[in-house]
This record gives sequence, structure tokens and C-alpha cells, in this order.
Amino acid sequence: IRSDAFVFFGATGDLAHKMIFPALQALTRAGELDMPVIGVAYANWSLDQLRERARDSLKAHGGIDEEAFRRLCARLQYIDGDYNDPATYDRLKQTLGDASHPLHYMAIPPSMFGTVVQGLARSGCAKGARIIIEKPFGHDLASARALNLTLHEVFAERDIFRIDHYLGKEAVQNLLYFRFANTFLEPVWNRTYIESVQITMAENFGVQGRGKFYEEAGAIRDVVQNHLLQVTTLLTMESPVGRDPVAMSAEKLRLFRAMRPLRSEEVVRGQFRGYRDEKGVAVDSQVETFAALCLHIDNWRWAGVPFYIRTGKCLPITCSEVFVTLKHPPLAVFDDVMPTQANHFRFRVSPEVIISLGAQVKQSGEAMCGESVELVARHQTQHDELPYQRLLGGAIHGDIAQFTSDESVETAWSVVDPVLNDTVPLLEYDAGCWGPAAADRLIPGGWHNPKPEESKPC
Ligand code: BG6
Repeated sequence: IRSDAFVFFGATGDLAHKMIFPALQALTRAGELDMPVIGVAYANWSLDQLRERARDSLKAHGGIDEEAFRRLCARLQYIDGDYNDPATYDRLKQTLGDASHPLHYMAIPPSMFGTVVQGLARSGCAKGARIIIEKPFGHDLASARALNLTLHEVFAERDIFRIDHYLGKEAVQNLLYFRFANTFLEPVWNRTYIESVQITMAENFGVQGRGKFYEEAGAIRDVVQNHLLQVTTLLTMESPVGRDPVAMSAEKLRLFRAMRPLRSEEVVRGQFRGYRDEKGVAVDSQVETFAALCLHIDNWRWAGVPFYIRTGKCLPITCSEVFVTLKHPPLAVFDDVMPTQANHFRFRVSPEVIISLGAQVKQSGEAMCGESVELVARHQTQHDELPYQRLLGGAIHGDIAQFTSDESVETAWSVVDPVLNDTVPLLEYDAGCWGPAAADRLIPGGWHNPKPEESKPC
């Protein structure tokens, strides 16, 4: 069933400005949003002010398409009201008119989810409806369970869409596509041929004024529990039986369940020097801005293959990359083969979209000497600006494949839960380097640090 109204709480907030208005314009342009679009907030604003805000948002994020914007504005309605006041939801009910399958987007702080969900239920706005929520989905296993209970009091699991925007990225979706649309990968995609896997999500900036938010999160909660474990799942899950989203979700969950909960000796936490001077950050903050860890997947395909995962703020480059190292050939037929690099696959997820295969080839000349080359496939990334368009479009159609389920979220929390709350010592590092030196000791042979790509034609 297709949703027939789009409601977004937090219409005057940051998320709406950055992500939702651009996605709504794109969906309107694509003809996917022929329904009432209702913003809700408590800001004492008028509809005209909201339209102005939308214009401003589009100017700042991707530009205005006047024709699509005009159509969007014509559909846009606004309800100003306190989320604690039942009258707000009664007005929403009235504004929904005869829409019987509204989609409610919670672009609000998680502390408000319970109040709004109850308000929707009391007023009848939750009937036949779907709900979208944004991370953080709790801050540990216990709070994630509590959040799921709150949602399930009113919404069935199939009607809950939890956004992990990484799942909307072109390159992340391509990981899955590449694995299951080719034959050559499957025979080597297991513990027999793969030595190790590295996943790096590096950012060359700090917390960008979000110190207050970041103090409650830290790198493990902010991106490991969600984005990076999701990427790991797409890289390692079995092929779903059939194309339906339920089959996809079931395979992902099976993989999450095979992840071994982390132990503190498998984790390095770091904090860049200068973080404590950021606005909203405690002078003695113990929050990590860097994490590196070694994850194990206890199933037949992956037993014994270490997954090294690393993320950090203020690193040398902004780039997300997966590096899969294959085992060396069994014998050194050519003298120089063994000491040289093993074959690898490299998936650059952002900013560029690149898949490359690292191979050894013979150097031209008399001797049987080799050199390392990469066979590279580059993708145009024009569709990657709008993961939110893709995700909101998916939710409108009820496609849960691009979202994450209650059990997956809880299982991912159970993987990181043992290393939350300062169980791992915090080490300092200088901004602009690859984190604390201890992170290098985690991984025999060292990390493959992503480098800036040379720009080459696609
Ligand atoms: C967010 C995190 O979920 O993802 C941020 O809260 C992080 O800390 C961001 O910077 C990275 O996402 P993207 O799409 O900008 O790479």
C-alpha cells in the first residue's frame, strides 16, 4: 500500500532544512509526492514562514527547481502546536482529511518519540499509518529495547521505518548489487580465500559545532553501531532467498546474530587533542572521537576472518573505504610474487564510488618480475546526493529493504554494548593523523589508509 499523506514533525528544525526539503523537492519532481505534505512544529510560525524556510533550505542544499518547488509549496501545510497538547494531534487529524495511510516522520529528538507516538494514537492519526524514525535508536541495548517497546505499543514492526542514511547511499547499495549480480566473486568470498577485511570511515573535520550531541554519542554509538555494522552486513550476508524485502531483512538479521560481541582488548578508543575545547564538550570528556576494532563473524563463511573497523574525526582525509585482502598464492612460482602485495578488492564508498581489484602483473622486460596494479571501475555519483529521496520514497511505498529492523538494531547494540561506557581506555591523538598508535597494533600488517583518488575519467 502506498502512503497517501506525508507528515513531518520537526518541520522547522535542522534535519528538515538539511535533508527533508531537498528530498521532498526531488520526490515532487519525480512525481512521487502527489499527496498532502504536512509540517508540524512548535515554533509559532505561519505556513508562509515554513515555505520561506523550504526555499532557504533548497538554496543551501542542491538548488531550487522552480516548477517542482511551486508544486511542493502548493501541497505544503503547516500545524504549529505543542507536542504535549492533544489539540495539536486533533488538528493534524483534521488536516489529514480522508488520507487513510499517512506516513509520519519523526525529525525530532528521540526523547520526544514516546509523546508524539502516543499523541498520534490517541487522535486516530496512527490508524493505517507508517512511522519513520532517525538514529540514535537508543544509546545502548537496554534503551534500544525500551524504544522498540514504545513504538510497538502503537505501530506494527512492518510499519516502522528506521533510517540509517548509509543504506540509502548509492555505493552502499552497490556493495550488495555487485556481490549478488556477478559470478566471479562468490567462489572467493569466504574464509578460504579472504585473509582479512578492513573498513575505514574517516573524516577530516571535527564535530562541527555538534559537541553537545556528540558528548552523548561518541564514535562507537554515532557510526559503528549503525553505519559501519550495516556495511559489514552487506559485505558478508548470504544471498536472500527471493527479492522481497522480508527475505533481505531476514538474511541481514542472521548475519548480525553471527557477529561476536566485542571485547575491550579488541577495541582502541581515541580522542583528538582539542576536542575538549569544543562548545558543549566537557573539559574532562571521556568520549571517543576515534574507534578501531576487530570484529569476528562466527559462521561457516567467515570463521577466522578478522574484520577491522575504524572511524574517526580529524583524520587526514574524508573517505569511506572497504579493503578486502585475499590470501597469498599457495606457492611462489615467480621469485618475487610472495613478498609483493596480495590480491585485494577495494570498495570506495565515498566521496567517490569506486570498485577496484588489486592484482600482480608482469613488468615488461626479460625478467619475470611483477608489479601491483589496480583494475578500477568508477561510477558517476550524481544520484548520491539524495539518499533521503531514496529512503523516503521507499517508506512511501512500504519497502522495508532499505531500513533496519527492531531485531537488527538490538543485535547490533549487543555487539558493541560490552565496550560502551568507558570500558576501554581513551588515548589522545593529534588532529590530522590516523588516530592513536595503538590502533596500528590491532592489525598485523597495518591499515590500508585511503588516499585521495587521482581524478580520472569514468
Ligand atoms: C552521521 C553521523 O550519522 O553520519 C556524523 O552522526 C557523520 O557524525 C555522518 O559525520 C557521516 O555521513 P556522511 O553521509 O556525511 O558520510
